[in-house]
Amino acid sequence: MISSPQAAMVAPNLEISDADFQLTARLVRDRFGIHLTDGKRAMVASRLFKTIRELGFDSYHQFAVAMLTSPTQDTLSLLVDCISTNHTFFYREPEHFHVLRDEVLPAIIAQQRQGRERDLRLWCAASSTGEEPYVLAMVIHEVLGAEYGQWQAGLLATDISQNALQKAERAVYPTEAVSPLPPAWQSRYFEARPDGSSAIKAFLRKEVTFRRFNLMNASFPFKQPFHAIFCRNVMIYFEDDTRRALIDRMADALVPGGWFFVGHAETISGLTTRFRNVCPGVYRKEGR
Ligand SMILES: C[S@@+](CC[C@H](N)C(=O)[O-])C[C@H]1O[C@@H](n2cnc3c(N)ncnc32)[C@H](O)[C@@H]1O
Repeated sequence: MISSPQAAMVAPNLEISDADFQLTARLVRDRFGIHLTDGKRAMVASRLFKTIRELGFDSYHQFAVAMLTSPTQDTLSLLVDCISTNHTFFYREPEHFHVLRDEVLPAIIAQQRQGRERDLRLWCAASSTGEEPYVLAMVIHEVLGAEYGQWQAGLLATDISQNALQKAERAVYPTEAVSPLPPAWQSRYFEARPDGSSAIKAFLRKEVTFRRFNLMNASFPFKQPFHAIFCRNVMIYFEDDTRRALIDRMADALVPGGWFFVGHAETISGLTTRFRNVCPGVYRKEGR
Protein backbone atom coordinates (compact mmCIF):
# COMPACT_ATOMS: atom_id res chain seq x y z
CA MET A 1 0.00 0.00 0.00
CA ILE A 2 1.30 3.48 -0.89
CA SER A 3 1.07 5.83 2.08
CA SER A 4 -0.45 9.28 1.58
CA PRO A 5 1.91 12.27 1.08
CA GLN A 6 0.56 13.79 4.33
CA ALA A 7 1.45 10.67 6.31
CA ALA A 8 4.94 10.69 4.80
CA MET A 9 5.39 14.32 5.85
CA VAL A 10 4.51 13.78 9.49
CA ALA A 11 6.14 10.40 10.04
CA PRO A 12 9.70 11.04 11.25
CA ASN A 13 12.44 8.79 9.96
CA LEU A 14 14.10 7.57 13.11
CA GLU A 15 15.93 4.63 11.57
CA ILE A 16 19.64 4.81 12.31
CA SER A 17 21.86 4.12 9.32
CA ASP A 18 25.28 2.54 9.84
CA ALA A 19 27.03 5.77 8.99
CA ASP A 20 24.94 7.87 11.42
CA PHE A 21 25.40 5.39 14.24
CA GLN A 22 29.19 5.35 13.68
CA LEU A 23 29.20 9.12 13.64
CA THR A 24 27.31 9.34 16.94
CA ALA A 25 29.44 6.60 18.49
CA ARG A 26 32.63 8.51 17.59
CA LEU A 27 31.26 11.76 19.02
CA VAL A 28 30.17 10.05 22.25
CA ARG A 29 33.55 8.34 22.62
CA ASP A 30 35.56 11.51 21.93
CA ARG A 31 33.51 13.74 24.20
CA PHE A 32 32.51 11.41 27.03
CA GLY A 33 34.76 8.35 26.73
CA ILE A 34 31.72 6.06 26.47
CA HIS A 35 32.28 3.24 23.98
CA LEU A 36 29.09 2.35 22.08
CA THR A 37 29.50 -1.06 20.49
CA ASP A 38 27.38 -2.03 17.49
CA GLY A 39 25.26 -4.12 19.87
CA LYS A 40 24.08 -0.87 21.51
CA ARG A 41 22.50 0.40 18.31
CA ALA A 42 18.89 -0.49 19.16
CA MET A 43 19.35 0.88 22.69
CA VAL A 44 20.71 4.18 21.30
CA ALA A 45 17.84 4.43 18.81
CA SER A 46 15.16 3.89 21.42
CA ARG A 47 16.74 6.14 24.05
CA LEU A 48 17.27 9.01 21.60
CA PHE A 49 13.85 8.75 19.93
CA LYS A 50 12.01 11.13 22.28
CA THR A 51 14.86 13.62 22.59
CA ILE A 52 15.28 13.92 18.83
CA ARG A 53 11.58 14.61 18.43
CA GLU A 54 11.62 17.15 21.26
CA LEU A 55 14.56 18.97 19.71
CA GLY A 56 12.56 19.27 16.48
CA PHE A 57 14.66 17.05 14.21
CA ASP A 58 12.81 14.99 11.61
CA SER A 59 15.38 12.27 11.26
CA TYR A 60 18.23 10.67 13.09
CA HIS A 61 20.47 11.79 10.22
CA GLN A 62 19.57 15.46 10.75
CA PHE A 63 20.36 15.10 14.43
CA ALA A 64 23.68 13.33 13.81
CA VAL A 65 24.81 16.00 11.34
CA ALA A 66 23.83 18.80 13.74
CA MET A 67 25.76 17.10 16.54
CA LEU A 68 28.81 16.92 14.33
CA THR A 69 28.72 20.36 12.78
CA SER A 70 27.23 22.62 15.46
CA PRO A 71 26.87 20.86 18.80
CA THR A 72 25.65 23.09 21.63
CA GLN A 73 26.29 22.38 25.31
CA ASP A 74 22.55 21.79 25.77
CA THR A 75 22.21 19.19 23.01
CA LEU A 76 25.40 17.43 24.10
CA SER A 77 24.03 17.34 27.62
CA LEU A 78 20.76 15.82 26.41
CA LEU A 79 22.70 13.32 24.32
CA VAL A 80 24.81 12.10 27.24
CA ASP A 81 21.74 11.97 29.48
CA CYS A 82 20.21 9.54 26.98
CA ILE A 83 23.34 7.46 26.40
CA SER A 84 24.74 7.12 29.92
CA THR A 85 23.71 4.24 32.14
CA ASN A 86 22.99 5.59 35.63
CA HIS A 87 22.23 2.26 37.28
CA THR A 88 23.25 2.35 40.94
CA PHE A 89 21.82 1.48 44.35
CA PHE A 90 22.40 2.06 48.06
CA TYR A 91 25.21 0.03 49.62
CA ARG A 92 26.39 -1.40 46.30
CA GLU A 93 29.48 -3.56 46.84
CA PRO A 94 29.38 -3.01 50.63
CA GLU A 95 32.90 -4.44 51.20
CA HIS A 96 34.29 -1.16 49.88
CA PHE A 97 32.42 0.82 52.52
CA HIS A 98 33.82 -1.57 55.14
CA VAL A 99 37.37 -0.96 53.85
CA LEU A 100 36.68 2.78 54.07
CA ARG A 101 35.37 2.42 57.63
CA ASP A 102 37.99 -0.03 58.96
CA GLU A 103 41.15 0.88 57.08
CA VAL A 104 41.07 4.05 55.04
CA LEU A 105 39.46 6.53 57.43
CA PRO A 106 41.34 5.30 60.55
CA ALA A 107 44.66 5.63 58.63
CA ILE A 108 43.85 9.15 57.41
CA ILE A 109 42.69 10.19 60.87
CA ALA A 110 45.85 8.84 62.53
CA GLN A 111 48.06 10.56 59.98
CA GLN A 112 46.24 13.88 60.29
CA ARG A 113 46.44 13.79 64.07
CA GLN A 114 50.25 13.64 63.82
CA GLY A 115 50.21 16.85 61.81
CA ARG A 116 47.42 18.35 63.93
CA GLU A 117 45.21 18.67 60.89
CA ARG A 118 41.55 17.73 60.54
CA ASP A 119 41.04 17.71 56.87
CA LEU A 120 39.45 14.92 54.87
CA ARG A 121 38.95 15.12 51.11
CA LEU A 122 36.98 12.44 49.24
CA TRP A 123 35.76 12.43 45.65
CA CYS A 124 33.00 10.25 44.26
CA ALA A 125 33.75 10.58 40.55
CA ALA A 126 30.68 8.93 38.95
CA SER A 127 28.05 9.66 41.56
CA SER A 128 24.99 9.04 39.38
CA THR A 129 21.74 9.64 41.32
CA GLY A 130 23.50 10.06 44.69
CA GLU A 131 23.17 6.69 46.41
CA GLU A 132 26.94 6.09 46.50
CA PRO A 133 28.11 9.52 47.78
CA TYR A 134 25.39 9.63 50.45
CA VAL A 135 26.54 6.25 51.76
CA LEU A 136 30.13 7.57 51.80
CA ALA A 137 28.89 10.55 53.85
CA MET A 138 27.14 8.12 56.23
CA VAL A 139 30.34 6.10 56.70
CA ILE A 140 32.37 9.25 57.40
CA HIS A 141 29.73 10.37 59.86
CA GLU A 142 29.75 7.00 61.63
CA VAL A 143 33.55 6.90 61.91
CA LEU A 144 34.11 10.49 63.04
CA GLY A 145 31.18 10.32 65.49
CA ALA A 146 31.17 13.18 67.98
CA GLU A 147 34.31 14.67 66.37
CA TYR A 148 32.51 15.17 63.06
CA GLY A 149 31.91 18.89 63.57
CA GLN A 150 35.61 19.54 64.21
CA TRP A 151 36.66 18.13 60.85
CA GLN A 152 36.74 19.74 57.44
CA ALA A 153 35.20 16.70 55.78
CA GLY A 154 34.70 17.53 52.13
CA LEU A 155 32.86 15.11 49.89
CA LEU A 156 32.73 16.07 46.22
CA ALA A 157 30.34 14.08 44.01
CA THR A 158 30.45 14.51 40.24
CA ASP A 159 28.81 13.03 37.19
CA ILE A 160 28.35 13.93 33.54
CA SER A 161 24.58 13.39 33.58
CA GLN A 162 22.54 16.46 34.47
CA ASN A 163 19.46 14.30 35.01
CA ALA A 164 21.26 12.07 37.47
CA LEU A 165 22.69 15.06 39.35
CA GLN A 166 19.26 16.65 39.69
CA LYS A 167 17.91 13.47 41.28
CA ALA A 168 20.98 13.28 43.53
CA GLU A 169 20.49 16.83 44.78
CA ARG A 170 16.81 16.19 45.40
CA ALA A 171 17.84 13.22 47.59
CA VAL A 172 14.42 11.55 47.61
CA TYR A 173 14.24 7.79 47.03
CA PRO A 174 11.59 5.08 47.05
CA THR A 175 11.56 3.61 50.55
CA GLU A 176 12.34 0.08 49.22
CA ALA A 177 15.61 1.47 47.80
CA VAL A 178 16.86 2.23 51.29
CA SER A 179 16.42 -1.34 52.57
CA PRO A 180 19.99 -2.61 51.82
CA LEU A 181 21.32 -0.14 54.42
CA PRO A 182 21.76 -1.12 58.09
CA PRO A 183 18.42 -0.41 59.88
CA ALA A 184 20.04 2.06 62.30
CA TRP A 185 21.28 4.12 59.35
CA GLN A 186 17.84 4.12 57.77
CA SER A 187 16.43 5.96 60.77
CA ARG A 188 19.51 8.10 61.43
CA TYR A 189 19.93 9.45 57.91
CA PHE A 190 16.48 9.33 56.28
CA GLU A 191 13.12 10.88 56.98
CA ALA A 192 9.80 9.51 55.77
CA ARG A 193 7.81 11.78 53.46
CA PRO A 194 4.01 11.95 53.32
CA ASP A 195 3.97 10.28 49.89
CA GLY A 196 5.73 7.21 51.30
CA SER A 197 9.18 7.99 49.88
CA SER A 198 12.33 8.56 51.95
CA ALA A 199 14.49 11.68 51.92
CA ILE A 200 18.08 12.07 53.06
CA LYS A 201 18.08 14.30 56.14
CA ALA A 202 19.25 17.85 55.51
CA PHE A 203 22.31 17.65 57.78
CA LEU A 204 23.75 14.82 55.66
CA ARG A 205 22.63 16.25 52.34
CA LYS A 206 24.61 19.41 52.90
CA GLU A 207 27.79 17.39 53.42
CA VAL A 208 27.86 16.35 49.75
CA THR A 209 28.69 18.86 47.02
CA PHE A 210 27.36 17.81 43.61
CA ARG A 211 28.91 19.18 40.41
CA ARG A 212 28.71 18.29 36.74
CA PHE A 213 32.13 17.09 35.64
CA ASN A 214 33.34 15.19 32.60
CA LEU A 215 36.00 12.62 33.43
CA MET A 216 37.36 13.13 29.91
CA ASN A 217 38.56 16.64 30.80
CA ALA A 218 42.27 16.68 30.00
CA SER A 219 43.15 18.37 33.27
CA PHE A 220 41.43 18.23 36.61
CA PRO A 221 40.78 21.61 38.27
CA PHE A 222 41.10 20.59 41.93
CA LYS A 223 43.16 22.85 44.18
CA GLN A 224 44.17 20.10 46.60
CA PRO A 225 44.67 16.36 46.12
CA PHE A 226 42.13 13.88 47.53
CA HIS A 227 42.75 11.28 50.22
CA ALA A 228 40.44 8.81 48.44
CA ILE A 229 38.63 8.61 45.12
CA PHE A 230 35.67 6.35 44.35
CA CYS A 231 35.40 5.77 40.60
CA ARG A 232 33.25 2.67 40.54
CA ASN A 233 31.43 1.11 37.61
CA VAL A 234 32.15 3.86 35.10
CA MET A 235 35.41 2.78 33.45
CA ILE A 236 33.58 -0.35 32.24
CA TYR A 237 32.11 1.92 29.54
CA PHE A 238 35.55 3.13 28.39
CA GLU A 239 38.21 1.60 26.13
CA ASP A 240 41.68 0.70 27.45
CA ASP A 241 43.44 3.86 26.18
CA THR A 242 40.76 6.06 27.73
CA ARG A 243 40.98 4.11 31.00
CA ARG A 244 44.78 4.28 31.08
CA ALA A 245 44.80 8.07 30.64
CA LEU A 246 42.02 8.54 33.21
CA ILE A 247 43.80 6.37 35.79
CA ASP A 248 46.87 8.54 35.33
CA ARG A 249 44.87 11.73 35.96
CA MET A 250 43.26 10.05 38.99
CA ALA A 251 46.73 9.24 40.36
CA ASP A 252 47.72 12.90 39.92
CA ALA A 253 44.57 13.94 41.81
CA LEU A 254 45.43 11.78 44.87
CA VAL A 255 47.83 12.38 47.76
CA PRO A 256 50.78 9.94 47.88
CA GLY A 257 49.41 6.73 49.41
CA GLY A 258 45.84 7.84 48.52
CA TRP A 259 43.13 5.23 47.96
CA PHE A 260 41.47 4.52 44.64
CA PHE A 261 38.26 2.46 44.46
CA VAL A 262 36.92 0.94 41.25
CA GLY A 263 34.04 -1.53 40.80
CA HIS A 264 34.49 -5.05 42.15
CA ALA A 265 34.55 -6.57 38.69
CA GLU A 266 37.00 -3.98 37.36
CA THR A 267 40.77 -4.13 37.38
CA ILE A 268 43.38 -1.50 36.60
CA SER A 269 46.27 -3.98 36.58
CA GLY A 270 48.21 -3.78 33.33
CA LEU A 271 47.08 -0.19 32.79
CA THR A 272 49.24 1.55 35.39
CA THR A 273 52.27 1.13 37.63
CA ARG A 274 51.27 3.96 39.93
CA PHE A 275 48.98 1.89 42.17
CA ARG A 276 49.24 -1.33 44.09
CA ASN A 277 46.26 -3.59 44.67
CA VAL A 278 45.01 -3.86 48.26
CA CYS A 279 41.91 -6.04 47.74
CA PRO A 280 39.32 -6.49 44.96
CA GLY A 281 38.58 -3.06 43.50
CA VAL A 282 40.77 -1.20 46.01
CA TYR A 283 44.15 0.33 45.09
CA ARG A 284 46.69 2.53 46.80
CA LYS A 285 48.80 5.11 45.07
CA GLU A 286 52.53 4.49 45.40
CA GLY A 287 54.83 7.00 47.08
CA ARG A 288 53.84 7.16 50.72
C1 LIG B 1 26.68 2.76 36.18
S1 LIG B 1 26.78 4.35 36.92
C2 LIG B 1 27.78 3.99 38.35
C3 LIG B 1 27.30 4.73 39.57
C4 LIG B 1 28.05 4.43 40.86
N1 LIG B 1 29.42 4.84 40.81
C5 LIG B 1 27.97 2.97 41.23
O1 LIG B 1 28.99 2.27 41.22
O2 LIG B 1 26.86 2.49 41.55
C6 LIG B 1 27.95 5.16 35.82
C7 LIG B 1 27.90 6.68 35.92
O3 LIG B 1 29.03 7.22 35.20
C8 LIG B 1 28.63 8.43 34.60
N2 LIG B 1 29.55 8.76 33.50
C9 LIG B 1 29.70 8.14 32.30
N3 LIG B 1 30.62 8.75 31.55
C10 LIG B 1 31.09 9.81 32.30
C11 LIG B 1 32.05 10.82 32.07
N4 LIG B 1 32.72 10.91 30.92
N5 LIG B 1 32.28 11.72 33.05
C12 LIG B 1 31.60 11.66 34.23
N6 LIG B 1 30.66 10.72 34.50
C13 LIG B 1 30.41 9.80 33.55
C14 LIG B 1 27.21 8.14 34.13
O4 LIG B 1 26.47 9.32 33.90
C15 LIG B 1 26.66 7.27 35.27
O5 LIG B 1 25.94 8.05 36.20
